[in-house]
Amino acid sequence: MSTKAERFGPLPSTAVLPEPVYTTNARRSSFVCSPPVKQGDTEWYPPVMIGAAAIGGAIARDCEVYIHRALDIMSRLEPDAYLQYLNGYYREGLRRFGRDWGYADIVTAVLGLSERLKPESYLEIGVRRGRSVCSVASIRPDIDIAMFDMWVTNYAGMDNPGETHVRAELDKFGHKGKREFINGNSHVTLKKYFADNPNAYFDMITVDGDHSNLGAAEDIADVLPRLSIGGCVVFDDTCNPNVAGLSEVWRRMVGDNPRFAAYTYSDVGYGIGFAIRKY
Ligand SMILES: C[S@@+](CC[C@H](N)C(=O)[O-])C[C@H]1O[C@@H](n2cnc3c(N)ncnc32)[C@H](O)[C@@H]1O
Repeated sequence: MSTKAERFGPLPSTAVLPEPVYTTNARRSSFVCSPPVKQGDTEWYPPVMIGAAAIGGAIARDCEVYIHRALDIMSRLEPDAYLQYLNGYYREGLRRFGRDWGYADIVTAVLGLSERLKPESYLEIGVRRGRSVCSVASIRPDIDIAMFDMWVTNYAGMDNPGETHVRAELDKFGHKGKREFINGNSHVTLKKYFADNPNAYFDMITVDGDHSNLGAAEDIADVLPRLSIGGCVVFDDTCNPNVAGLSEVWRRMVGDNPRFAAYTYSDVGYGIGFAIRKY
C-alpha cells in the first residue's frame, strides 16, 4: 500500500503512466471543426479551427465577466464552506486587481469553453455538489451530461449528498438535456460505460475525481480516446500544493502530447488546465 505522500506528492520522473488507446473513428465536434469537404475535394488544413491558447487568453482577458458569472452561479447553489470562502476570494481579487487579475479556475474555464465550443455532450468525473456541472448547464441548458462520482462521504470536510442533490441543483439552471448518473469508482465505471457504449464521444470532458497521481492519470487515459476531435478536456488542480504531482500528470499526458492544443493556468489558486483534441 503506497503512502499518502507517494500518492498525492510530486510525481517521480520514473513513474509509469497509463497510455490512452485511441480509436480511428472519433467523432468530430461540429462547431469547432471545419465543414466537411465535398467528395473529391481536398481538406487542406487539419479540421480543428480554434485552439486552447486563444480561449485561455480570452478567459484571462475577460476574467471580471467570468468571475461575476461564477459569483452569480454560486449564489444559486446550496451553500457550503468552500463556496463561502471562494465568494470572499473572488470579491477581494476583483477589488484589488480588477481586470488585471487574470484569474482562472474550473468554473471560469468551463464557462468560457462552453460559450466558445458550444458542446452538445459533457462527461464529468468528480461532480461533488454540482458546481462545475451547473456552470456548464448555465451556458448549455440542452447539453447531454454523463456524471461519474462515488460520492465520497464528507469530501474535503463537507457534506457530499449525491445524485438527488445534483439533480435539484441542475434544475435551478434550467437544464433540459439528458442526465446520466454513473455512481461508483470511476476506475471501474468508466471502463464499463465505454465498453457498453462503444460509439459514445463527448465534446467536453472534465477530470476532477480521484486526485492521486496514478488515479487521475488512469481517468485521463480512460477518457481521452472518447473526446471528440475539436472537443476539450478540462483538468483541475494544476497548481494545488495538496496534490503536487497532478501538474506533472497533466503535462506528461496532455500538455506535451501533440494530439492536443493545451493551455494551463498555474499562477494562483489551485490552477486549471484544458486542451482541445486536434486529431
Ligand atoms: C474535487 S470534487 C469535484 C468538484 C466539482 N468538479 C466542482 O467543481 O465542484 C471530487 C469528487 O470526486 C469524487 N471522487 C473521488 N474519487 C473518485 C473515484 N475514484 N471515482 C469516482 N468519484 C471519485 C468525490 O466523491 C468528489 O465528489
